[in-house]
Amino acid sequence: MKLIVGNWKMNPGSLGEAEKVLRAVKIAAGKATKTKVVACPPHVYLGALRKTAGLSRLALGAQDCFYEDKGARTGETSPAMLASLGVKYVIVGHSERRALGETNEDVSRKIAAAGKHGLNIVLCVGELDRDGEEGVHYARVRDQLRASLEGVPAKHAPQLVIAYEPVWAIGAKAKRAASPEDHREMAILIKKHLVERFGQRPGFAIPILYGGSVDDRNAGGFLREGAADGLLIGRVSLVPEQFNNIVVLANTIK
Ligand code: PGA
Repeated sequence: MKLIVGNWKMNPGSLGEAEKVLRAVKIAAGKATKTKVVACPPHVYLGALRKTAGLSRLALGAQDCFYEDKGARTGETSPAMLASLGVKYVIVGHSERRALGETNEDVSRKIAAAGKHGLNIVLCVGELDRDGEEGVHYARVRDQLRASLEGVPAKHAPQLVIAYEPVWAIGAKAKRAASPEDHREMAILIKKHLVERFGQRPGFAIPILYGGSVDDRNAGGFLREGAADGLLIGRVSLVPEQFNNIVVLANTIK
């Protein structure tokens, strides 16, 4: 079963538009019986969108959370609050948040907190560029993974999803998407680390998604040749026609 996650980032500009996107995405998600679809809108829309999602197969996710349940933390949102809204997933450690100063230590605390409240966690890792020495990007991702999972109890392994997102491949300024081969190589390294960290079975079972400039033309390559367990999609998650094409496609792949 493939997992297709849409990261809406700070979009769209109004609740009305957000409802429109979600209603459109719901159509494909409802028919994709072999694919899990998750939409991650801005926090402020989650409460209202829960009603729009209704009892559909489409799950809601958040784009971030804090690592405490409540208290004097202006502007933050806790995993407990997200869980109380029926949110099932949370993205943690996205490169756009890391660029604002989020550390691996923050990320690991967020994972443990989200895990405690029963949320599924999409942990993002990825190297900044590939211009350095041969193979340096492998070491970067391994170190980031190790530090981000530091102190995360093994009991939360079943709630974990890893998104490999090479930062140079993300967003409108991306050089290009990575290749399916890039993903496959990195996924092997990630899997090896997860097995060492959580044990053979729980480590191997953690899905690994690809993210970065995914669209409905290159998605199939990542899911087939790239052996990705799913995709984390930014810009195209707000273009329901394209996003739905990807969901339909993913549903045909084992
Ligand atoms: P993109 O973003 O698909 O727009 O490149 C991916 C992401 O940041 O998760």
